[in-house]
Amino acid sequence: MEHLREAAKLLAQAQRVAVFTGAGISAESGVPTFRDALTGLWERFDAQSLATPQAFHEDPDLVWGWYEWRRHRVGIARPNAGHDAVAAIETHAPHTTVITQNVDDLHERAGSAGTVHLHGSLFAPRCVVCEKPAALPEPTGEPDGGRRLPPPACVSCGGLVRPGVVWFGEALPEAALETACRAAAGCDVLLTIGTSGLVYPAAEIPRLAARSGAAVIQVNPRPTPLDRIAAVNLHGPAARSLPDLVAATWS
Ligand code: APR
Repeated sequence: MEHLREAAKLLAQAQRVAVFTGAGISAESGVPTFRDALTGLWERFDAQSLATPQAFHEDPDLVWGWYEWRRHRVGIARPNAGHDAVAAIETHAPHTTVITQNVDDLHERAGSAGTVHLHGSLFAPRCVVCEKPAALPEPTGEPDGGRRLPPPACVSCGGLVRPGVVWFGEALPEAALETACRAAAGCDVLLTIGTSGLVYPAAEIPRLAARSGAAVIQVNPRPTPLDRIAAVNLHGPAARSLPDLVAATWS
């Protein structure tokens, strides 16, 4: 309880807030994380065989099928109380920037319209050749996690359509990274929620906030390398800790 009171005091005094989320905030919506044992996506699928430009070049049907399965999983999921609490923070603290590593749309569906996506989105496919945005194909029933699906062809140039996510070895979208760095460098409080803090350059965001003098509040049921830069660690699931934090701060 003491940690919650400390976090609430910091958040109540903050003029500018940054929220930085990872797969853990969507875990309680039933969307698997990447590195949690058993449910972790990478446990069941080899990252290098699915999330790289080379993988898509070598086997576009496998990679496209896997992302369509992930999009289907997100489509049947609902934002949880953690996403709702982030949207509530934005209403209480008007200068809040929500930054996510997630490629789902659960923050937007909870009301965080301007979410900054550092790793792209499952809902923004584009052509490999002309880079034009492509329409999302109609869902074809419940794709299983390993079924090959041929990616659509670009209506403009006929090139292959790829998922709109950032793959290993690819640069992050410049504008998103710039917005995220500006928010981290200028905030009084940064909430880091549900991330292992292992994958750079995104993992630099909470560290940049701490170096810039912000108080970092971490929400994660397990310890991470970010524990040591956090002013407060709330060791609990986001769908419980975040509503508790909003209630302790603003009610
Ligand atoms: N509430 C809060 N945190 C949770 C919850 C929960 N209910 N359940 C799990 N977590 C935490 C885990 O303890 C872990 O620290 O969420 C974190 C998930 O870590 P990862 O699976 O590594 O996900 P993330 O940090 O988002 O990965 C970053 O790696 O593979 C790339 O592009 C991918 O964006 C992803 C990036």
